[in-house]
Amino acid sequence: MVGERTARFRAPDAPESIPPSFALAAPAEARGSVAEAFSPRPRFARFEDRHLIRIETEHAWSLYGTGEVAGPLLRNGRHTIAWNTDAYNYDSTTRSLYQSHPWVLGVRTNGTAFGVLVDTTHRVGIDLAEGILFEADGYQPAVYVIDAPGPEEVLRELASLTGRMDLPPFWSLGYHQCRYSYMTEDEALEVASEFRRRRIPCEAIWFDIDYMDRFRDFTFDKERFPDPAGMVQRLAERGFRSVFILDPGIVADPADPTYADGVERDHFVRDAEGREYRGTVWPGVCAFPDYTRSATRHWWADLIDTFVTTVGMDGLWNDMNEPAIFDGPGRSMPVDCIHRADADLGGPGTHARYHNVYGMLMIRATKKGMLRARPERRPFVLTRSNFVGGQRYAAMWTGDSTSSWDHLGWTIPMILNLGLSGQPFAGCDIGGFSENADAHLFQRWTGIGSLLPFSRAHSDKGTHRHEPWSFGEDCERVCRLALERRYRLLPYLYTVFREAAETGLPVMRPLFFADPTDPSLRSAEDSFLLGRDVLVRASRDPANGCCDPMPHGRWRMFEPANACHHDLPELFLREGAIVPLGPVRQFSGEKPLDPITLVISLDRHGHAEGTLYEDAGDGFAYRDGDYLLTTYTAEREGPRVIVGIRGAEGSRPRPLRAAEILILLDDGTVKRSVGVGGDNIPVLIDQPRC
Ligand code: NOJ
Repeated sequence: MVGERTARFRAPDAPESIPPSFALAAPAEARGSVAEAFSPRPRFARFEDRHLIRIETEHAWSLYGTGEVAGPLLRNGRHTIAWNTDAYNYDSTTRSLYQSHPWVLGVRTNGTAFGVLVDTTHRVGIDLAEGILFEADGYQPAVYVIDAPGPEEVLRELASLTGRMDLPPFWSLGYHQCRYSYMTEDEALEVASEFRRRRIPCEAIWFDIDYMDRFRDFTFDKERFPDPAGMVQRLAERGFRSVFILDPGIVADPADPTYADGVERDHFVRDAEGREYRGTVWPGVCAFPDYTRSATRHWWADLIDTFVTTVGMDGLWNDMNEPAIFDGPGRSMPVDCIHRADADLGGPGTHARYHNVYGMLMIRATKKGMLRARPERRPFVLTRSNFVGGQRYAAMWTGDSTSSWDHLGWTIPMILNLGLSGQPFAGCDIGGFSENADAHLFQRWTGIGSLLPFSRAHSDKGTHRHEPWSFGEDCERVCRLALERRYRLLPYLYTVFREAAETGLPVMRPLFFADPTDPSLRSAEDSFLLGRDVLVRASRDPANGCCDPMPHGRWRMFEPANACHHDLPELFLREGAIVPLGPVRQFSGEKPLDPITLVISLDRHGHAEGTLYEDAGDGFAYRDGDYLLTTYTAEREGPRVIVGIRGAEGSRPRPLRAAEILILLDDGTVKRSVGVGGDNIPVLIDQPRC
């Protein structure tokens, strides 16, 4: 349900019949007293064939969101265009990237916050030069305004309106290795073996378009990938998941069974004259499924079902789904193409209307197909293109970056703004996609990338490879440390993901979430928070150093994996918090969470508290209570600190395991104790001075 903090505003002459582009629940219409209570209030106007929506803001207010954007975290003064675009080698001046989120989050000087969402799938200009100005093509859109005591509440409300990500499978939080492309079965298996041989944690090997026969969806090159199901099985035996790419373009060749079937059942987008639209992508001239029709989404889901059932891969990667078309206008489909959309989406309309949701509708169908193939497993889909609400279907990554310090620099603010736009599960190509990284850039990027919600290295054809050992021994050692850290942090990360799935809060949060009233934190982008308790301080330029201020209170440095290296970000724990860590694992399913390590930072009253969420890591039994949410506490009592469990939720039995307790002291040292008999038994340790 959408709460009383959200109102829907419409221009007096706006049509009522347009279905919401993303909304799952309808908030109150802003009329009479509702409108009076809301601030800020949008003003509607028209300029030529554009609909203008203006919101006045004060100069000192901070503006964020606007979806996927390169450049600074703070979006004041920036102009973006919500129009999904294949933006190879983009930079901070590129106005449209792969995803569209006509959404702005504002934080006022006093820390209260608001959000404004324009309810249209058409192209929208978002100009933050003076206040907020949206310029929407197409029909007159409604506008949702959220007014709340702080940014967290705004994001919870946005999620009530547009949906939350499902809890992903635990394995998908591990480290992923990709390349355009691992060209043969043998190469992929060798890369996998190298990870194990070198003791570098890795969860999944990814297959880019070269696994296919002439880049055609749902096919395999028979020489280079003679036994895909066997290969997936062999990878699984070594503890690797596998993820395969699928693009929307279906080669327009009557000999291609997918195309022939799609033609027979009439599933492709039409051009303005009513003929099948064709455009060129990797396999040559293609037709494009019209995912705006539920019949076509069903068809696609069936194709996915068969593909997943036959091959047994763990995840799918939907790429080029803006859709990217090499010979199309603006590298996409002509805006006068026709989609025969179902009535619940708004009925038949042009590509101008449905362009921004094309990718989102594709991943919706892909996810459905994966669920159909394996109803007992949580589907994992990665997408490049998306729209408001698309967090319900897939994780995302930030597309074709360049291996440069600038691009590394934009990574943190990009993923923060995506989180502030409702998409919590996001990452980048570690090392950068195009051009060549060097050891220094790559190890720094791996240090940061291993702490992002989605963590995957990838690289373009013909560039330096981006496996952790590609840049020599020193770099390999730093990458190993970075990835060991990630695996140590997984229990905490999963707990934060669970919170994100329940509430809509981002996994990776800007520093100002620690104190929205502190103006000095508003533009910090070398640092970020993972959940509420862990602060990451990174350096994004070749010379070391992070100049961001720290939020108030005591934040104590901690190191999960003895990973001290000047190219790795520093980690800090909030005072009063307990963070659960697991053992280093080569992959998430290698061994159970035993021992559990509780890192404790007592507050000035000698108290700390933290939670750990556990479940089967996959499947849906957690929805029926098969999970364990434990609240740990630490209390200073006279000369000792007593660590124990305050309470637990869920029906999952507590595993018997050892607990290692680490108390962070003010002098930078750590007091350690090991509990025997499991983590439900209080551990007594000597009084630390803190
Ligand atoms: C574009 C994607 O952004 C990139 O990650 C991928 O490697 C290529 N397409 C080839 O599939």
